Amino acid sequence: MVTHRAAIVGAGHTRFGVLDEGPRSLIRSAVEAAFASVDRSADPRDVREAFLATLGFGGHQIGNSAAALAEEAGLVGVPVTRVENACASGGFALRSAVGALAAGASPLVLVVGMEKMTDVSNARRRYWLGVSGDTEWERAAGLTFAGVYGLIASRYFAEHGDASEALVEVATKNHENGALNPNAHFQKVVSREQVRAAPRVARPLGLYDCCPVSDGAAALLLAPSELARRYTDTPVYVDATGAGTDYLAVQERRDLTRFRATHRAAHEAFRSAGWNRSDVSFHEVHDCFTIAELLALEDLGFAAPGEAPALTLSGATRRTGRLPVNPDGGLKAKGHPIGATGVSQAYEVFLQLRRAAGARQVPHAEHALTHNVGGAGATAAVSLFSVG
Ligand code: COA
Repeated sequence: MVTHRAAIVGAGHTRFGVLDEGPRSLIRSAVEAAFASVDRSADPRDVREAFLATLGFGGHQIGNSAAALAEEAGLVGVPVTRVENACASGGFALRSAVGALAAGASPLVLVVGMEKMTDVSNARRRYWLGVSGDTEWERAAGLTFAGVYGLIASRYFAEHGDASEALVEVATKNHENGALNPNAHFQKVVSREQVRAAPRVARPLGLYDCCPVSDGAAALLLAPSELARRYTDTPVYVDATGAGTDYLAVQERRDLTRFRATHRAAHEAFRSAGWNRSDVSFHEVHDCFTIAELLALEDLGFAAPGEAPALTLSGATRRTGRLPVNPDGGLKAKGHPIGATGVSQAYEVFLQLRRAAGARQVPHAEHALTHNVGGAGATAAVSLFSVG
């Protein structure tokens, strides 16, 4: 259990989307932006440890990419560890950073998430997306990620009734939020009719039920909470991080419509922070497919099994609703550069809790939750944040 309270004192982000920049340039831009964001400036020589979250998609640097981060961040000599837990790499890298601070890596720890995905053919993209699932059974049977989540959605409909309209609401809501995020891959509103009429990718999921394939990077600078005010008057505290795993192949699981890894991660995070669910002002959840946002609401404990569709259709998860979800556009509209996503979620929290999110600012944002899932639910990290 990670119970040490750390503080984010700086955060940076590149644009997400189909970008010209390569992996090194993305890392450099995010790190420079993180240092530039520190209110009272931070010296790179204060960084004692760093973590790089990346899958290595496309094969730019399959091994030892930690050294590339050390070079691009001006940290050669500083220990850097690469964290690879598929789409949950960023959430686990944040957890590792909190652990490193607890172990005495002070005053600063750097976390970077980066993925370069769009410079390979569609066939290679499918290959790289597939490596994060079960490769002996699911992949051999020709199952893609959209295919796995399509099966999960079908099973959810069988258990709880047709939730298609709630999926449409998730897509339109997240596109509406993404339209207000200058870093988002898609900055366009889509109508309910467009979502319903879009080509099917893996029934019942259509184009607007899927996150896109994106390039991008994000970075965080963390300090021990007692040193945070050396860097800023408004540190964002990581009150707890929780994490969990599940069977890699969905066929091994007892239940297709509940992600036990998320359940375990949330339980650990809430217990160690001593928070109630009602304390959370807004959520950044892992909506790689629209059905995943519904599952997240249930697995995190904000809706009973089968009740997330009604909660979503009530408008509660809109930016101005009672339980705002994905004010930055989520993976659906902001994009999903695999290793960057969990770090990007914490970046959004950093902005929102400091009232710096501009047009997409959530009213009364004081406590936030991030939820980052690897593959089809096999790994999950949940973190809780508050502002000082
Ligand atoms: N949502 C909305 N629009 C999308 C989109 C998405 N997810 N993906 C692509 N588009 C748009 C493109 O911008 C493009 O629009 P344009 O013609 O106006 O320029 C058009 O659709 C075609 O883009 P293209 O890249 O050729 O789409 P594609 O058919 O090759 O890929 C998906 C579409 C949904 C298959 C692909 O985005 C995908 O695989 N997503 C899932 C990624 C994934 O599994 N990540 C891991 C999650 S665990």
